[in-house]
Amino acid sequence: MSKGSTPPATSVTSKRFYDAYSRDYSPYLERHSGYFGAVEKVIAEAAGHRTDTALLDVGTGTGERLQRVVSEIRPTRVVAIDESPEMAALAQRNCPSAEVLAMPLGAPELPETISVKFDLVTCLSNVLGHVPRTQLVTGLKQVRSLLKPGGAFVFDVNNRYNAVSYGPLRALRNLTRDWVLPGGGDFTAAYKDGDEVLQTPVHLFSPSEVTRLLRDSGFQIGSLGFRDYVTGRDRGRFGGSIVVKAVNA
Ligand SMILES: C[S@@+](CC[C@H](N)C(=O)[O-])C[C@H]1O[C@@H](n2cnc3c(N)ncnc32)[C@H](O)[C@@H]1O
Repeated sequence: MSKGSTPPATSVTSKRFYDAYSRDYSPYLERHSGYFGAVEKVIAEAAGHRTDTALLDVGTGTGERLQRVVSEIRPTRVVAIDESPEMAALAQRNCPSAEVLAMPLGAPELPETISVKFDLVTCLSNVLGHVPRTQLVTGLKQVRSLLKPGGAFVFDVNNRYNAVSYGPLRALRNLTRDWVLPGGGDFTAAYKDGDEVLQTPVHLFSPSEVTRLLRDSGFQIGSLGFRDYVTGRDRGRFGGSIVVKAVNA
């Protein structure tokens, strides 16, 4: 490849994408540390002052955030899953107290592999945007089946009306498009892996879509807010990512 030429792009599954990206994920965590800190506060509040919390983290990635959450809420049992074996291996190293499984949300064998029920399930940083849309309700119902009655599910997803992150024009285009033709919202994530650019589709959610998905999966919404994707400050519906606490009522 000559210097300055664009490397070829290859479309890959989310699993292959994150297997490769696991080697280079930390800068992303640093860029959004203010936002992640704000989401982790929501998790700590959901955990309350219990001393016997069982925690499941879905799509745990490198496990660095899980380790921070574990240090904060001190759960008695921690399980984490990630469909990328490379991420799962990294998470096991970064969060040694967790039992980490390389398994996707929605895998039929998941409930019997994890035989316990949890007080708290987390699913952080748009993991749900990587789950095929036809499997989202199934995956969310599976999360609910793994929660104790009254247990909390804290997750965040990218908001496709976030004008601060994506620019006002793109947010407006997404809003208009959803009025005319609901069901859009995909973009392509790219990662340069050596001489190759890996691409994978990622779904960005609208607030009403999140509400509908939760209702269809049997959850009640405890809180739904918008946080600036960099600073973590409270924002309106056009200024931040969607941060949700849902309850298995
Ligand atoms: C953007 S990263 C977030 C990682 C971590 N939660 C964090 O906040 O740093 C998305 C993660 O979700 C995982 N993932 C994607 N689809 C998944 C699925 N269906 N089941 C479990 N994990 C999945 C990916 O492998 C990747 O590690």
